[in-house]
Amino acid sequence: MKKIAVMTGGGDCPGLNAVIRSVVLSGSGYEVETLGIKNGWQGLIDSDFELLSETSVSGILSRGGTILGTSRTDPLKKPGNGEKIQKTLQTNGIDALVVIGGDGTLSAAYELTDEGIPVVGIPKTIDNDIFGTDLTVGFDTAVSIVTEMIDRLHTTAESHHRIMVVEVMGRNAGWVALMAGMAGGADMILIPEMRFTIDEVCRDLKARYMSGKKYSVIVVAEGTHHEDITDAQVPECNRDECGHEKFVGVGNLLGKELELRLGIETRVTVIGHVQRGGSPTAFDRILGTRFGVAAVEQVIAGNTGLMVALHGSRIGTVPLKDVASRTKPVNPDLYSLAKSVMKRMQ
Ligand code: F6P
Repeated sequence: MKKIAVMTGGGDCPGLNAVIRSVVLSGSGYEVETLGIKNGWQGLIDSDFELLSETSVSGILSRGGTILGTSRTDPLKKPGNGEKIQKTLQTNGIDALVVIGGDGTLSAAYELTDEGIPVVGIPKTIDNDIFGTDLTVGFDTAVSIVTEMIDRLHTTAESHHRIMVVEVMGRNAGWVALMAGMAGGADMILIPEMRFTIDEVCRDLKARYMSGKKYSVIVVAEGTHHEDITDAQVPECNRDECGHEKFVGVGNLLGKELELRLGIETRVTVIGHVQRGGSPTAFDRILGTRFGVAAVEQVIAGNTGLMVALHGSRIGTVPLKDVASRTKPVNPDLYSLAKSVMKRMQ
């Protein structure tokens, strides 16, 4: 009998439990035993896991978060961790590791593949910034949550004739800001891929007010930089274990500047972890289920060192080495399209 271990690493997101359930259920179809590793890489280092059965995954499809727990532990940071992980796998007769993760987790998975650990990756993150897949588990849910928030902020923006700044997640890529901004009819979308100055933002907002629109909704991704915040200003202590920047609050900085320079009452809403919480959409449940089945099929076929991916409407695979240390920025054509629609609304 083959043994698979499944783990979730990095930030949680809706749809992780759908993937775990799918790995366990499809594994049992091949008479594969599935072990659930607790709290990301930390569980493999500490040999902390549980046997997952059809009963233990019953009822989790609609639940947010991850029943396994997660952490941002970087397994390669401390010397000796690679050996500890090898030992956990060997002692427990684990044939392959299914790693559900974002960019950091999948990059570490690739490095461990190099040390001879058989890994199949599954892409998840609300940021949708993983190279090699059209979509990641969790993204659709986050877009739908943020769209609803923008709708709600629109009505109060209009009533009070205010500028509403909405800060959403998006470390290196502005996918959530762009898609939810488009779906929610935002008047301006600011993302990490585009540099801008506050003068430019003020100029566009003024034009909008001159044409009679007395309120504006601006969606800004947390990783967006403008003239007043540069990468160099982020001190080391403001980074997590994976070297990710802990953000200083671009939404509030922007809101303050706009009110000061334009004299228009401005309010800021930082959506934060709400957009990553709660029940997944039908789309994320289905994508997670398809990814889980595909990952087990790859393990059974003896194919490892790869990530399952969505290519159009098909599930395919990508070598982990192509995914590691890369990111998937927003499609510039889509951003231009959104901008041209917003311009016509001025
Ligand atoms: O990586 C996904 C993500 O949701 C980012 O968009 C965000 O910057 C980060 O996680 C927040 O991480 P944490 O939950 O560790 O604060």
